[in-house]
Amino acid sequence: MKQKELTSRLLHIVGEEGVVLNPADQEPYVNDWLGKAHGRTVAVVRPRNTTEVAAVMRLCHQTHTPVVPQGGNTGMSGGATPDMSGAQVVLSLNRMKRIHDVDPINNTLTADAGVILADIQQAARHVDRYFPLSLGAEGSCTIGGNLATNAGGTGVLRYGNTRDLTLGLEVVLPDGRVWNGLRALRKDNTGYDLKDLFIGSEGSLGIITGVVLKLFAAPAGRVTAWVGAQNLTNIVALLNRLQADCGPRLSAFEMMSAPSLALVTQQLPGHASPLDKTYPYYALIELADTNMSGVQDMLQAGLAVAIEDALIDDCVVAMSEAQSISMWKLREGISMAQVKAGKAVKHDIALPISSLARFAAEADQAVQDDFPGLPIINFGHIGDGNLHYNVLLPLDVAYEDYAKKTADLNKRIHDLVTQFNGSISAEHGVGTLRRDELRRYKSSVEMDLMIAIKRTLDPNQLMNPGKLL
Ligand code: FAD
Ligand code: MLT
Ligand code: ZN
Repeated sequence: MKQKELTSRLLHIVGEEGVVLNPADQEPYVNDWLGKAHGRTVAVVRPRNTTEVAAVMRLCHQTHTPVVPQGGNTGMSGGATPDMSGAQVVLSLNRMKRIHDVDPINNTLTADAGVILADIQQAARHVDRYFPLSLGAEGSCTIGGNLATNAGGTGVLRYGNTRDLTLGLEVVLPDGRVWNGLRALRKDNTGYDLKDLFIGSEGSLGIITGVVLKLFAAPAGRVTAWVGAQNLTNIVALLNRLQADCGPRLSAFEMMSAPSLALVTQQLPGHASPLDKTYPYYALIELADTNMSGVQDMLQAGLAVAIEDALIDDCVVAMSEAQSISMWKLREGISMAQVKAGKAVKHDIALPISSLARFAAEADQAVQDDFPGLPIINFGHIGDGNLHYNVLLPLDVAYEDYAKKTADLNKRIHDLVTQFNGSISAEHGVGTLRRDELRRYKSSVEMDLMIAIKRTLDPNQLMNPGKLL
């Protein structure tokens, strides 16, 4: 079908406001946040509801038009960017923003996939409940994108990944059929768990249009602390000790290396370390409960013992919400500081928590030996065994040099991750960034199963081609 005919049929389905054809207006949809992925599109389509999504998908199915689903376009793996062919349609969910139901008795929230994560959190707070998915991009990422990437973030330690927070899904299949799995049930053993196929599928199997999420009791407050330590072994030991002492009250435990913190304080005005001295590693710790009585004392006592035992060298406990927020701004500023300072070769890896310190020591040595002088920005959700082990290249690095160093660094780091029985994608997904790496590290049986599922659901390979598989 000619491009003109396709766009006129798309216009017929979603109306003029729903189709972006002007290349200048398409810019935010065809480039990613990191400035790494760039593409072109025949049209950006913005349906208002599931019926329109289904009609668009039927048209794309009939006309063999490839589709790239997109939420907030905050992804870190190039998964939401079309390729350079100009033949792919970007299907943006950014007009599907309705929260349909918030049920504080069933502790569930039902919403369109295009709702911004922060708006979901706010709707839960409105009925005195809590939705615990939390990440730096929460003001712009969508819940559909969170599901499609099985996003992690800072609440996983206590509440789990997006997968663990999801009860039901609605999905438009590549041929335009709608699967309504919007069940608000905590038990449902009626066969295969189809929703788990779509969660984390990065737009490769269908368009997620609706979700039913779990809500939780709202914490009455939080206590936040910042600690400095000599090494990662001690940070992990502190995590282990606080988990034993504080149980589920421990709601976050994030790590930053000294170069990660220095990058934030240098690159972002108004960001300063809470401690006077510098230490090789820092942790941001948070305790929360529905009854905060005694919780601050519990954290202070635990940290005092940790200092006595020389696990940590120094600490500061936030005495106000404002102090707590400024500690979190340091942690959440790392992504932006990296973008400002250079071109990061990103490794989003998961390891058994018991191997984190040994892995980091070996990886640091490998980078120093083979790529001398490159800063290592190591930080992450250490309570989940998730390191963002990034290596920073200068902003003006030549493209060829960047591509070569990226390939070499990926191989070096990911080989090591595999030796430690880890994963090369903990929470950001595979997209285009790790697609070739995935083939290297997944077993042939696992790849065969994934390809078989893809062929069954998307036999014409129209869903997000070139991503993940
Ligand atoms: P997009 O970027 O638009 O899309 C991501 C992928 O999902 C693409 O493959 C796309 O095709 C697919 N997709 C999107 N919507 C749908 C849909 N409705 N149906 C089917 N497929 C769809 N991620 C973490 O996990 N943890 C973090 O701590 C974290 N911190 C971040 C901090 C910053 C500052 C930034 C910019 C990003 C961070 N991210 C983090 C990455 C990103 O925010 C997440 O991956 C998020 O889940 C992406 O949501 P999105 O709506 O922006 O999706
Ligand atoms: C974060 O945890 O801040 C992001 O997932 C990491 C990143 O920017 O690499
Ligand atoms: Zn992260």
